[in-house]
Amino acid sequence: MHRVTLADEDDFDGWRDAARALAAANVPPEAVVWQVGDAPSDLFGATAAALPPAPGPLRVSRQFIDLARTAILHRDPARFALLYTLLLRLIARPGAIADRADPLIRRIEGLAKGVRRDIHKMRAFVRFRAVADAPGDDPRYVAWFEPEHHIVRVNARFFVDRFHTMHWSILTPALTIYWDGSVLSEGPGASRADAPQDDPVEAVWKSYYASIFNPARLKIGAMLKEMPRKYWKNMPETALVADLIKGARARELAMVQTARATAPAGDARAAWAALRDEAAACTRCPLHRPATATVFGEGPVDAPLMLVGEQPGDQEDLAVRPFVGPAGQLLDAALAEAGIDRAATYLTNAVKHFKFEPRGKRRIHATPDAGEISACRWWIEQELLIVRPRIVVALGATAARALLGRTVTIARERGRPVSLESGAEAWITVHPSYLLRLPDPAAAAEQRAAFVADLRAAAARL
Ligand code: URA
Repeated sequence: MHRVTLADEDDFDGWRDAARALAAANVPPEAVVWQVGDAPSDLFGATAAALPPAPGPLRVSRQFIDLARTAILHRDPARFALLYTLLLRLIARPGAIADRADPLIRRIEGLAKGVRRDIHKMRAFVRFRAVADAPGDDPRYVAWFEPEHHIVRVNARFFVDRFHTMHWSILTPALTIYWDGSVLSEGPGASRADAPQDDPVEAVWKSYYASIFNPARLKIGAMLKEMPRKYWKNMPETALVADLIKGARARELAMVQTARATAPAGDARAAWAALRDEAAACTRCPLHRPATATVFGEGPVDAPLMLVGEQPGDQEDLAVRPFVGPAGQLLDAALAEAGIDRAATYLTNAVKHFKFEPRGKRRIHATPDAGEISACRWWIEQELLIVRPRIVVALGATAARALLGRTVTIARERGRPVSLESGAEAWITVHPSYLLRLPDPAAAAEQRAAFVADLRAAAARL
């Protein structure tokens, strides 16, 4: 009997090294006991036989490695043995991985599917609550989450990328992860009581959720499937669910009696105003310190078209309105030429504070970095949820990055629609300041015409 002790529940490298050595020595699956950490060592009467020395690399397909890396995160204690059994089978018959009818492969695929779902749920349902150690301190953000499987470490990178400039902790029963803005660390598990229970941001969520809750579309089964009850207590908006469901019938009747055009728009405006007020106090990244104010989006909250710029400039920062300076004037003229009514369009920016470098009395525009864009993404995502535009035009690479969550090369992605998670269709074009900077008048005229054509093409989709 061979006993393998893995360092952690998600110790894929430990499993792979052991599996490689065992396979090289032709050890059958039933002769191996897999355990984690300091689990009792004499289960099944296993003896601690020394593993054969690890040989050179074992050739297995990328597909198996990817499957094993995911499935190993499942909480099923049999997963290590199942994967080892499959590994031996694939060494003998590499093509067997494609056999979808094989019960072993189906079982392991099922484990991987459960893990992927749990990874997604953590990304969707983690809700940070702000905690300030002392008045005036920048807040730290703390969330409580109970995963079904061992997915916290693999998900850590996602949260680092998403909330790069915030200081946050995610507490889970088995493990706590912390990000201090530059280093990711781990600590022991925690309990729900260790996480804060209240946060002013919750008010925004609640008012927004109540405003979009449509009793006529209430499907409790689907809701439970997407958002299992165990996560509800972590999510501020779900505190409302019981009451909303209770009143759903009456509200449905009230809703059909209310003019469809006015009721949802009224509610969305209240949710938008709450969001704008919350953004006014945003300290998610250091840009709030030197800027005069948060320049939030403006325009009808049911606009079918949303334009997203980079960040407010000097004049926008002082006027506390987007696109009122030189780039705004060029944009206004281009919109008019493309037949788009600015007043019917929602205009906002990827980053809501003016980033600049002081030079004498002047404030020179500085491009926001990836961390600042990602810290500000939360606001644009909420604006998308509330306004629900059908078409979104990204003006420049920063806007495109904020909308798509990845680096975008404008020349490559211009002129065709890209789907956003919100369901909207995004169109990518240049930023009006780029046109202002072109020194050659002929090139500037040509680029300006292309910009107007982009705006016209996007608006034609409405
Ligand atoms: N540039 C932008 O991207 N947004 C503004 O609001 C002004 C200039």
